[in-house]
Amino acid sequence: MKVLSVASEIYPLIKTGGLADVAGALPLALAAYGIHTRTLIPGYPAVMKAIGDKAEKVITLYDLFGEQANVLEARHDGLDLLILDAPALFNRFGNPYNAPHGEGYSDNWRRFGALSKAAADIAASAIPGWEPDLVHAHDWQAALTPVYMRFAPTPEKPSILTIHNIAFQGNFDTGIFPWLGLPDHALAVDGVEYYGKVSFLKGGLQTAWAVTTVSPTYAREIQTPQYGMGLEGLISARAHTVHGIVNGIDTDVWDPATDDTIVSRYSAHKPKGRVENRQAVGETFGLDNDDSPIFSVVSRLTWQKGMDILAAVVGDLVAMGGKLVVLGSGEPGLEEAFRNAARYYPGRVGTIIGYDEKLSHMVQAGADAILVPSRFEPCGLTQLYALRYGCIPVVARTGGLADTVIDANPAALAVNAATGVQFSPVEPWSLSHAIRRTINLYDDKKTWLAMQKQGMKSDVSWKASAGLYADLYKQLDLMVSKP
Ligand code: ADP
Ligand code: GLC
Repeated sequence: MKVLSVASEIYPLIKTGGLADVAGALPLALAAYGIHTRTLIPGYPAVMKAIGDKAEKVITLYDLFGEQANVLEARHDGLDLLILDAPALFNRFGNPYNAPHGEGYSDNWRRFGALSKAAADIAASAIPGWEPDLVHAHDWQAALTPVYMRFAPTPEKPSILTIHNIAFQGNFDTGIFPWLGLPDHALAVDGVEYYGKVSFLKGGLQTAWAVTTVSPTYAREIQTPQYGMGLEGLISARAHTVHGIVNGIDTDVWDPATDDTIVSRYSAHKPKGRVENRQAVGETFGLDNDDSPIFSVVSRLTWQKGMDILAAVVGDLVAMGGKLVVLGSGEPGLEEAFRNAARYYPGRVGTIIGYDEKLSHMVQAGADAILVPSRFEPCGLTQLYALRYGCIPVVARTGGLADTVIDANPAALAVNAATGVQFSPVEPWSLSHAIRRTINLYDDKKTWLAMQKQGMKSDVSWKASAGLYADLYKQLDLMVSKP
């Protein structure tokens, strides 16, 4: 079966978060189920540079939102890529979505509308000799794809829209509508219209044949007002076609036994190698060299991630005898709060503001625990990396965090099933209590080691979840009447 995946970022070429990891790893895992995926991505400078002269032009789109654009094909790190080479839209350095000052580009509707339109054209056989059986679009940036497919003159192919984060919806003033090239009746309740705006995500949710999100718990949560961010009604109305499939991770990229970005390699059978990584993390972040537990954060520093709540309990954490390392970037106020914490608690708190893929592996390999106090978390990947690296996840009981970490309650500890600590609600007192529980567990060396090993043994690969996507693809394919 042939699938066109459409995404605005993909590891290892361009990444701002978990979407890139998923877009980069899922196609590799699907291959084992007989699914051949080609992924359409924008030709940002980082992408064009990485593919260099490996790319070949497959088609020219003469009028893509008033621009001439080429679609190139290239293979990179086992991925089969289609690259939308439209310099007027994508030849901008740095973050793929935001201008240097941090605000979204004012023409994002045009940039990602064009990505979606190109995807729909490819679905309608624009590329000679290659036609997908199904299209899988990710997040709002690709969400107009099923809308264009619905309103195209060609027979409609099956489509899936995956929600990685419902907080980002791609809502724009209706003034953009005439430029999208959709028929007038698409600006309606059963199209892209959303409370007097044009919404890319809403349009996709309305038209995709199936909707998935990245964990079963988040699939339920987004049907409620607390998490649905206004889209809960629409999602619950089509609940029978909404699926929660938990993300996996690329277990080749993330494998402490072979990872050459860390100081010392180790495994569940030979966990001793962690000690040197722990030492290295302590040195990198300027921590005291003692046996007290190192808590860590590898995250966007945002409200979603509950980083303000963590900032509020750094003093408690230090008073309880813990240490903290923070690797992240995001909201200026939160960056400042963690910089200040490092100044205020020298040797106990270390902060590195920035994005550093290599260091993120080191932190997972050397910290004792990772804190993920998210207010909402569709899946979350850092707790999965942590499980694989023997770094105990301490997580809010929400979304994919609730689905992937087994809390160290007495029953789970008794049967040696515990892999981490969960807490709820996401409030400072509750996080503080979870930190206390974690320190108590850490002080019981035998239990701690058992939890580390249990986590390292848990299956966080894509195998099972890729199977669920493959089943869904096949179900949808069966709905198409074949000549
Ligand atoms: P989200 O996509 O909401 O940010 P995820 O947990 O799904 O959350 O994915 C985040 C990804 O980004 C992980 O691969 C994580 O390791 C990575 N990451 C986040 N912040 C940093 C950082 N400052 N440096 C390196 N990697 C980071
Ligand atoms: C989003 C979510 C995160 C999820 C990732 C990949 O960025 O915030 O929870 O893991 O997408 O699906």
